Amino acid sequence: MDIRKEYLEFFKSKGHEIIPSAPLVPDDATLLFTNAGMVPFKSIFTGDVPRPTPPIRTSCQTCIRAGGKHNDLDNVGYTARHHTFFEMLGNFSFGEYFKKEAIAYAWEFVTEILKLPKDRLYVTVHENDDEAYEIWQKHIDKDRIYKFGDKDNFWAMGDTGPCGPCSEIFYDQGSEHFNSDEDYMGGDGDRFLEIWNLVFMQFERSSDGSMSPLPKPSIDTGMGLERVTAIKEGKFSNYDSSLFMPLINEVARIANLKYEYESGASFRVISDHIRSVTFLLAQGVNFDKEGRGYVLRRILRRAVRHGYLLGIKEPFMYKLVDKVVELMGEHYEYLKEKKEYVKELIKIEEERFLATISAGLDLFNEELKKTKDIFSGEVAFKLYDTYGFPLDLTADMLREKGLSVDETKFDELMSEQKARAKASWKGSGDAIKESGDFKALLEEFGENEFIGYENLKSSSKVLALLNSEFKRVNELKNGEIGYVMLDSTPFYAQSGGQCGDTGLLGGNKILDTKKYFGLNLSTIEAKNSLKVGDILPCEVSLNRLEIRRHHSATHLLHAALRAILGSHISQAGSSVEADKLRFDFTHPKPISKDELDKIEKFVNDQIAIGAKAKIEIMDIESAKNSGAIALFGEKYGDQVRVLTLGCSKELCGGTHVENLNEIGSFFIIRESGVSAGVRRIEAVCSRAALNYANELRSELEEIKIALKGANPINAITKLKDEIKSLQNEIKNANSSVELSPTIINNVSVVIGEFNGDIKAKIDEIKNKFDSVVVFLASKKDGKVSLGAGSKNCNIKAGELVKAIAPIVGGGGGGRDDFATAGGKDIDKIPNALNEATNIIKSKL
Ligand code: SER
Repeated sequence: MDIRKEYLEFFKSKGHEIIPSAPLVPDDATLLFTNAGMVPFKSIFTGDVPRPTPPIRTSCQTCIRAGGKHNDLDNVGYTARHHTFFEMLGNFSFGEYFKKEAIAYAWEFVTEILKLPKDRLYVTVHENDDEAYEIWQKHIDKDRIYKFGDKDNFWAMGDTGPCGPCSEIFYDQGSEHFNSDEDYMGGDGDRFLEIWNLVFMQFERSSDGSMSPLPKPSIDTGMGLERVTAIKEGKFSNYDSSLFMPLINEVARIANLKYEYESGASFRVISDHIRSVTFLLAQGVNFDKEGRGYVLRRILRRAVRHGYLLGIKEPFMYKLVDKVVELMGEHYEYLKEKKEYVKELIKIEEERFLATISAGLDLFNEELKKTKDIFSGEVAFKLYDTYGFPLDLTADMLREKGLSVDETKFDELMSEQKARAKASWKGSGDAIKESGDFKALLEEFGENEFIGYENLKSSSKVLALLNSEFKRVNELKNGEIGYVMLDSTPFYAQSGGQCGDTGLLGGNKILDTKKYFGLNLSTIEAKNSLKVGDILPCEVSLNRLEIRRHHSATHLLHAALRAILGSHISQAGSSVEADKLRFDFTHPKPISKDELDKIEKFVNDQIAIGAKAKIEIMDIESAKNSGAIALFGEKYGDQVRVLTLGCSKELCGGTHVENLNEIGSFFIIRESGVSAGVRRIEAVCSRAALNYANELRSELEEIKIALKGANPINAITKLKDEIKSLQNEIKNANSSVELSPTIINNVSVVIGEFNGDIKAKIDEIKNKFDSVVVFLASKKDGKVSLGAGSKNCNIKAGELVKAIAPIVGGGGGGRDDFATAGGKDIDKIPNALNEATNIIKSKL
C-alpha cells in the first residue's frame, strides 16, 4: 500500500489542495530545519499571510529533527522510532473546519483506509479539552480515551509561534509482545504507539512566553510516515519496514556482515543518516563549519564513525545514495537529478574525516584510560578542533561507556566559534517585522503593484511613508531618510539576485528599493517635503538598462554551465548589478581554463545570435513541464513568469533585455570556490565589458611603455635572456676571485668564502704553491659547502673538514689531501672559517 499516496488522495477527496513538500531549510530564521508539516504554513496560521483558497490543504512534508528544538539525533539508532529525517503526512485547516471534522477525518482514514483494527486503537486529549473528549466519544468507547496534561497533549512548533492543545491516536502493539512495567497508556514502554497528532491550533506564543489567540482556530495534524508504514506492515520497529530494510541490507552488504536487530544500532544510524544527508545536499545545504551545514557535517560524521565500528574504513556512505534515490526518487524527483553531485560531495567529506578519524580515536582512547567519569573538555575540544570530531560524536562514544564529557570547559573553548555560528542566524528581519508598521500597511493596501517591466517612468501616488524605524508618518521633510510605498511603482525591489532600483521621485532621491514582507518600499532621501497622497513623477535610473543586461547574461551563463559542465549545476546564489554579475552554483571542482573559455564562448554566441526575449505567464505545473528551470526552495505563486532567452528557459520575476544583442559582449573575470561543492563565476557585459577591455588595454599600454617595446612578449623574452647572461657573469666573476695566501712556517695558507666551484678552486690553489693548505666555504640555495685541500704539510684535509662541519650543522670528511662536507647553517660560515684558522695555526 502506498500510504503517502492514499493519504493525499483521501484528503483531496475531502476538498483539500495537495501541496508539495517545502524545503528542509525553512523560510524562517527562528528555526533550524523544517521539523513538522505545519512549518511552511506558519504565516497563514498566524494571519500574516492571507488564507489561501481553498483554506484546507494536505501534504507529505520532509522534516529534520536534529539540532534546535525537537532534536532527535542522539537517540537515533538506539530506539525503534527516532529519526533525523522523516516524512510527515498532514492535513491543515486555516480557520475552516475544526475539531469535529479533524477527528472524523482522522478516524475514517485510520479505520477505513488503513484498516487498522479498532480494538487496537486508543486516543488521548488534553485534560481541559472537554470538547474533544465529547467528540471522540462518537467514534470510540469512553474507556479508550485518556486525558493528559500539557507535557503530552500540548504542541508547539518552537519556543515561539503557533501552538495549541492536541489529541493523539495510539496503536496498541499488543501485550503479547510488550509487557514491561512501562507498557501502559502514557508510559514509556513501546506497547502503545502514537501514530497521529491532531493539533487544535489556537494560540501564538511570542518570545516573552505570552500566548495570544490566533485569528481563527485552525487544524494541524501530523502522522509520521515511517511509523504508520511499520504498523501497517506489522513491524515493531520503523527500521524493520520497507522504508529502511533495503538501506540496512545495503550497509550489511558493504560491511560484509549480517544485520541483527539486537546488535544492529550502527546499521540503523547509517540508514537513517544517509537519508538526511542526501536530502540536505540535494536541496543545496553544504557541509560547513557552522549553522545548518555543521548539523549536516555532524550527521555524516556520526554515520562514518558507526561505519568504522562495523569495520568499514573507507568512504562508503556515498555508495548508499543510489539506494535512497531508488527508494524515494519517484516521489522527490530532484534526488535523481542531483544524485551524482550528492555522491561526490559525500565522498569528499568522508575522505576528509577518515583522514583524521584513526588519530582522533587513538587520542580518545588514550584519554579514556585516564578518565574516571568525566572526560576532559580540553581533549574533547582538541578532538573537535584538530580531528573533526563534533562534540556530540564524542559524547555519543562516551555514552556507550556510561561516561560524560566536561561540556562547560568545551563550551568555554568553543565560545568564539559559537558566537560566529549564532551571528549567522541573526538578521532575519523578524525584529523589524515586530516593530515596523508592515502589517498595518498590508491590511490597508495589500501588496503594491510593480509596473516597471515596461515603464521606467510613471506618475504614482504616495500611499504611505515610513520613517527610518519603519513607523508610519505623514510627511518626510528635507534631508530626512525614510521609506515610500507607491500605489504602483516602476522601481524594482531587490530580489532573485537583482539589485533594487535607484532613481528620482519628484526631485527626491530614491536610494534603493526592497521588498519588506511583500511590500515594495523604496528608500528615499527627501529633498522637497514629501507627503502621503502626493502624486509624483517617478524616474528609474538608467542604470536599470545595464542591470537588466547583466541579469539576462546571468541566465545565459547558467545555461552555458549546464550545457558545458552538466545538468547537476544548480544555482546557489546570484547577484546582478549595473556593472557586474556573480553566479554561485553547485559543482564539485574548479573549472579549467579550457572549460571557462567554452562557457564564455557559449554565452557570446548566444548574444550574437540575438534572439528576442519571450515572456509567458503560466501556472507552475505547466512551467515545469515546459522544461523551465525553477530554483529549488524558491516560493512561486500559482502563476509564474517563464522567460525564454535563446536556449535558456527559467522562471524569473526580474527585468531583462528585449533582445540578446543588447548584452553586447560578455567576459568572465574570475572563477573561485565559495565552499565545498560551490563555485563562483564573476563576469561583466555591455558597458562594464567595454570598461573591462579598456582597463586591460591601458594596462598593456603601460607595460609596453615600461618595456620600451612594441611587442611585450619579445621584450620580456629579451629581458629574460639578459638576466640569464648576467647571472652567468656573476658566477664567472666569483670563480675568478683571488684569494691571497698567508704564509705560516713556510706553508701557504688560504682560508675564505668562495661562492663558486670549490673543488676546482682548491685544485687551482694547490697547483700554485709547493706547500699549501686551503679551506673554503661557499653558500648556495640556502646551504653550505665546505672544502679543504692540503699538500706537503702536516694538516689532513679530511680531519679538518670533519672537525669544522658540525659548526654549520653538517658532517663530512675525506682524504688527507682533499675533502668536502655540507651543512645548512649559512649564518655560521664566519664561525667555521675562524675555527679553521685556529686549528690550522695551532698545527703548523
Ligand atoms: N505539528 C504537529 C506535530 O508535529 C502535528 O502536525 O506533531
